[in-house]
Amino acid sequence: MAETIKSLIHSYDADVPLEQALTIPAPWYTNAEIAELERRAVFGGTWQVAARLDELRETGQYVATTVAGEPIVVVRGADGMLRGFYNVCRHHAAAVATDAAGHCDALRCPYHGWTYGLDGALRVTPDFDGARDFDKSQYGLVPVKTAVWENFVFVDLSGSAAGGSLEGYLGDVVSRVAPLKLEKLRFFERRSYTLNCNWKVYVDNYLDGGYHVPYLHKSLNTVLDYKDYQIECFGRTVLQWSPMKAGKDEKTAAVRRGEAAYYWWVYPNFMINWYEGIMDTNLVRPLAVDRCEVIFDFYFDDLGDSAEARNRASIAVGERVQHEDIDICEAVQRGLGSRAYVAGRLAPRREAGEQLFHRLLHRDLSAAVK
Ligand code: FES
Ligand SMILES: [Fe+2]
Repeated sequence: MAETIKSLIHSYDADVPLEQALTIPAPWYTNAEIAELERRAVFGGTWQVAARLDELRETGQYVATTVAGEPIVVVRGADGMLRGFYNVCRHHAAAVATDAAGHCDALRCPYHGWTYGLDGALRVTPDFDGARDFDKSQYGLVPVKTAVWENFVFVDLSGSAAGGSLEGYLGDVVSRVAPLKLEKLRFFERRSYTLNCNWKVYVDNYLDGGYHVPYLHKSLNTVLDYKDYQIECFGRTVLQWSPMKAGKDEKTAAVRRGEAAYYWWVYPNFMINWYEGIMDTNLVRPLAVDRCEVIFDFYFDDLGDSAEARNRASIAVGERVQHEDIDICEAVQRGLGSRAYVAGRLAPRREAGEQLFHRLLHRDLSAAVK
């Protein structure tokens, strides 16, 4: 570990009160060694969303993905259990599940045909006679801690994420989200966006307490009550919510109704955005120090034909907001690389969530370089 990385991490003071606090320093958004440290200590050390439960209901259904740079597969067993594994064949390390999602009776490696049960146990090793000191039972897929909350399947690669369990990790978010009855919403469509910015720029933008809404999202601003926008921080999560008002922008008002909008963030990279009858989740995944992917999953209370136009209109409104965010995030990334910028200040009324994010990051990164 280069001494410069240590001092870079320690240069952020997490104890300064919000009124005087600085953001994390600009090099945290541009330094590849910090990105690598985050991969191991942050993404590899926390509960990470890996799949949706609605695609893993039946025996043999699986989802293959990447978490913290690691190939992962989650599969529903014949006994009804959901299990996560490293998607790495114990023979010569090929990916055993090659499609992003699917259905199978067993997980057969495409390389030399080693076949694993849905419980991960190695069952078949073709043409392997003559091997000595080879105990099949020692060559199952390597398991990963897996747990479910609402429609979201999480994995913890470290096996020791804070909180002791997924529920412990999530804390109050579990009881606070329950009244929204997310189970009434059905998955409709996924869209993925690639941004030329560090993943934290996107999270910072999300956690600025509505600060950017009146300037950047003029149409969205017509339905949110900006002055009453609320920010609540607890544990590893932030709730931002805003009373809704009758908007002048008809397109937006038609698909952003109800009493209030709720925006949940779970450290480090998962968001749930809820309006009456409508939800989208965002999963932010680093691709490089200056590039990330944001996966949007859109849900609605009604997937019937009569709701199709409403659902499409809602996605269009969401997409417009997303493009406004993408442009500003990419501008921020360019600015963070400028010699003119070292760190910024936080608006006390708005940016408490952002400070919580920076403090949690600092805690994980400083523990990793001790
Ligand atoms: S790498 Fe999987 S069977 Fe050889
Ligand atoms: Fe935004």
